[in-house]
Amino acid sequence: MNNNTLLKIANDFGSPVYVYDSEKIVSQYKRLTSAFNKVKQLKVNYAVKALSNISILKLMKNLGAGLDTVSIQEVQLGLKAGFSAEQIIFTPNGVSLEEIEEASKLGVQINIDNLSILEQFGTKHPKVPVCIRINPHVMAGGNANISVGHIDSKFGISVHQIPHILRIVENTGMHINGIHMHTGSDILDIDVFLYASEILFDTAKHFKDLDFLDFGSGFKVPYSKGDIETNIEEFGTKLTKRFNEFCKEYGKELTLGFEPGKFLVSESGVFLAKVNAVKQTTSTVFAQIDSGFNHLIRPMLYGSQHVITNISNPKGRERFYSVVGYICETDTFANNRRINEITEGDILGFQNAGAYCYSMASNYNSRFRPAEVLWHKDKALLIRERETFEDIIKNQIEVTL
Ligand SMILES: Cc1ncc(COP(=O)(O)O)c(C=O)c1O
Repeated sequence: MNNNTLLKIANDFGSPVYVYDSEKIVSQYKRLTSAFNKVKQLKVNYAVKALSNISILKLMKNLGAGLDTVSIQEVQLGLKAGFSAEQIIFTPNGVSLEEIEEASKLGVQINIDNLSILEQFGTKHPKVPVCIRINPHVMAGGNANISVGHIDSKFGISVHQIPHILRIVENTGMHINGIHMHTGSDILDIDVFLYASEILFDTAKHFKDLDFLDFGSGFKVPYSKGDIETNIEEFGTKLTKRFNEFCKEYGKELTLGFEPGKFLVSESGVFLAKVNAVKQTTSTVFAQIDSGFNHLIRPMLYGSQHVITNISNPKGRERFYSVVGYICETDTFANNRRINEITEGDILGFQNAGAYCYSMASNYNSRFRPAEVLWHKDKALLIRERETFEDIIKNQIEVTL
């Protein structure tokens, strides 16, 4: 998508607006699957939480992906997008037994990460095959909030609790058909993945009738030109070799699963926002945009550094700006950032806005969530309308006081 395309989209659909390039999603999917093309049975389950628009899910379906879901609503979205239940894995954390049973009734693959729930589910539904999410106790991830495989994390069943898992399996007669782990997001070092994979293999040996091993995700994508990223191709070669060896030892051709979110959609997205005002203070120049952390929370939540470009003036001389939002508390997208000269009314583009951006948006300050547009085969397709005041008020009940 070039600048003129983006400007036209901002003009036609208004700002702020999320824009996703379908071609980038397709190329990332193909990159991942070709890195693992020597694995006989590969399953890529797209992590719906990253970007859950139904049209994006349909694109994933056309590519041959399955879905990784974390709530019953994501399961329902997946089914509505046309996925069959067998193409969906449900990997919740901290949800009720009832929600897991509801998902199971719909026929999706259940993934359990809690011994108490495992025992209860196995006792009530011994015939339903279940995957187990282990916690490998590996510290990995780009930020403490997205490192989930370490010892203090609430995710997964500790690898030290395998004897307890085995006892539950024996007592209930349940069938464990998969082992899963996910150690975090933004993991750069493939040795970390390979190290954690060995823990997964060691765990898998305890279970005699598995169908798949799910290695989660967490691949790091570049946030700017020349930025470091997970070397997927090298990881593919190395893990494929180990996986194929393991299948031989295990005596069965297992499916190798991944559940990428960011890797598939992060780079496809650009968030467009308009500059409402340029404000000089004693210490800096603020560019104040018609958005805030209600629409793109990652910089405030994780300290993410999204590249910001001035789409309206890409050749202007570079100056330093602090880009901030309109939310009535600290709401900073970038500090002291070099950007082509900004004039009020310019459109700024925030890169890497495909993953965990719209899906984390809220109505904070009673603002509307933005529109979403899919750039597909040289056409701008509106895939979500901007909210209206109706959406803000629709579930509110005015009582007489
Ligand atoms: C269980 C699980 N799988 C997959 C993902 C997707 O991770 P990423 O977006 O880094 O690929 C997440 C992200 O939080 C997750 O919690």
